[in-house]
Amino acid sequence: MTTPTDTNTPEARDIAPEALDRDQAQSELARLAETLATANAAYHRDDAPVMSDAEFDALRARNAEIEARFPELIRPDSPSRQIGAAPAEGFGKIRHARRMLSLANAFTDEDVADFVTGIRRFLGLAPEAALAFTAEPKIDGLSLSLRYEGGKLIHAATRGDGETGEDVSANARTIADIPDRLEGAPEILEVRGEVYMSHADFAALNQRQSERGGKTFANPRNAAAGSLRQLDPAITAARPLRFFAYAWGESSERLAPTQTEAIARLGALGFATNPRFRRCDTPDDMLATYAEIEAQRAALGYDIDGVVYKLDELALQDRLGLRSTTPRWAIAHKFPAERAWTVLEGIDIQVGRTGALSPVARLRPVTVGGVVVSNATLHNEDYIAGRDSRGAPIREGRDIRLGDWVEVYRAGDVIPKIRDIDLTRRPQGAAPYHVPETCPECGSPAIREPGDSVRRCTGGLVCPAQAVERLKHFVSRAAFDIEGLGAKQVESFWRDGWVQTPRDIFTLEARFGPGQPRQLKNREGWGETSARKLFAAIDDKRRIGLARFLFALGIRHVGETSASMLAAHYGRWEAFREAVEAGAEDDLLAIDGVGPVMVRALRSAFEAEGGEIDALAEMLEITPAESRASDSPVAGKTLVFTGTLERMTRAEAKARAESLGAKVAGSVSAKTDLLIAGPGAGSKAKKATDLGVEVIDEEGWLRLIGEA
Ligand code: IVH
Repeated sequence: MTTPTDTNTPEARDIAPEALDRDQAQSELARLAETLATANAAYHRDDAPVMSDAEFDALRARNAEIEARFPELIRPDSPSRQIGAAPAEGFGKIRHARRMLSLANAFTDEDVADFVTGIRRFLGLAPEAALAFTAEPKIDGLSLSLRYEGGKLIHAATRGDGETGEDVSANARTIADIPDRLEGAPEILEVRGEVYMSHADFAALNQRQSERGGKTFANPRNAAAGSLRQLDPAITAARPLRFFAYAWGESSERLAPTQTEAIARLGALGFATNPRFRRCDTPDDMLATYAEIEAQRAALGYDIDGVVYKLDELALQDRLGLRSTTPRWAIAHKFPAERAWTVLEGIDIQVGRTGALSPVARLRPVTVGGVVVSNATLHNEDYIAGRDSRGAPIREGRDIRLGDWVEVYRAGDVIPKIRDIDLTRRPQGAAPYHVPETCPECGSPAIREPGDSVRRCTGGLVCPAQAVERLKHFVSRAAFDIEGLGAKQVESFWRDGWVQTPRDIFTLEARFGPGQPRQLKNREGWGETSARKLFAAIDDKRRIGLARFLFALGIRHVGETSASMLAAHYGRWEAFREAVEAGAEDDLLAIDGVGPVMVRALRSAFEAEGGEIDALAEMLEITPAESRASDSPVAGKTLVFTGTLERMTRAEAKARAESLGAKVAGSVSAKTDLLIAGPGAGSKAKKATDLGVEVIDEEGWLRLIGEA
């Protein structure tokens, strides 16, 4: 906030803008900035206006007049800049010091029991050993990471892809639950939690928005996300956001020995923590707390979508470690989905980037748990016919027909699904539905291969839908994430033949940039600045991480997680490329999470389009996958464990090795770098000796990783 400048006299305000001198203008602009910011906050954030709308408008008009006369004096925090016209730039990026994780889900009591037994087994605990967990509501908002250094809030970032988020510091500072300063905090502390909006604030916001003819939000979560991701902090300040702290990232010292105490400490530092937080000593306690929280759900005043359980003891959390995007020591026990009945009015066929024909239900709009639903996924033809992929009946074999009454449900953020149909209300003469045998987009035959659950268009890149979907995927957020090049732009460039393959994106400037006969800046909806920005944004992505690159290729079965795993395994693009070229199946299959289906998909993708992919790779700088533990002596090494380990279970040893960047294989081969042999080691130890592979015992292993 600016400090008011008092050098000018109160009368200065009455001087006509043309008569002001430079100094008077400068100090009046400073005062106006201050006054209007205060009035804004009072009106929007505190709902306690300090002046009338007319007065407010008059001051803004005065500010604009002075600025028009002295444009060089326009302040960075000028009221004319802050309200309405948001800066064209998007948010800056912040790389999280520690990854922001998501949570695995449990849907049933058995899932929770499996979670607990899995942890006990991992840790090798005796049946009678105690093991405490915490339980707390899972807030349905969006997560935020707040970095404090020396007790001062340095920046705030959204989760983004977990590695890098958006810098929303200015917005976070407007949230009352987020302290600007902490007393007695560790020198470095990243506090993490959920930004959300209460039901009452959400209703009031929507009311205000619709009165002003503004945009209304479907639910509090969207309202919170939309408000936090505002380029203009004045708008965020006007939206009543709240924050619950429930976790932390980097911390220069341990907050406490347990989750329970750490949360209490965050509370003592001035953060809002959830009052329903409980410590649970047994799985029964956990389920009882779940039932309790579920019973209170409607009365909480904000949306929650489940209960999160976390292992209480932080030293044990560390031992369990992380999977690729989720911790092993926590799980979200989700509430059952919300449901409603409505009429199926139509079935559309969408053609995806892999050619899959996906039937989509067009529904008579209905509210499901506060959200209006008018589409639902129908998966594939088996699902519509009332059977699963192996031919077993679902919905007791009832098929779905046009005009049917269907029960839709939604769980969390996912696309709504159809749960059931009501045969008693089926219209007379309704006929079974069949997915078309030709592609509705290109007319090519649509074929269902044995073992595939969907019919696919055989048009390949001839099919406009596939080509466009692949391009959209290529530029999407988790892939190349090119600012200013979204689905809409891709479609329009594709229609005009400007961009047909990913490679074309990187030659866009050479073909449609300055000096060319046809130029992007002259296209409808574009201008000098936006064109320049797009070229710069594209240039920016000529350097891309291996995981993103692999994901962007849009190969079937290679999602974000598998792309990261492949990247982590091979490190460099060339190494991956060679392995696929050489058909190195065993090597691929040894990667956790890679199965024969993915190996086949990789092979056929490179058979069909290896040339195109290589040409694309040539145009780019693909940066090696970063291993966050690359300084460990076992990083990049292939290890084998054999015999009995006494200090940790096999699962823990494997997880630890992987977290340090090592590969763990099941059998000894020439590629093995190190064998860790406990008592009772047999043939593997002999084979290792024969092959000249180094063999160490458990003590040696612990010393190597610095834990002896
Ligand atoms: S803990 C280390 N606790 O749920 C684990 N997450 O589905 C980090 N969430 O990304 C998350 N309430 O945005 C945790 N009490 C809670 C939560 C919570 C909501 C969100 C969070 C996370 C997502 C995972």
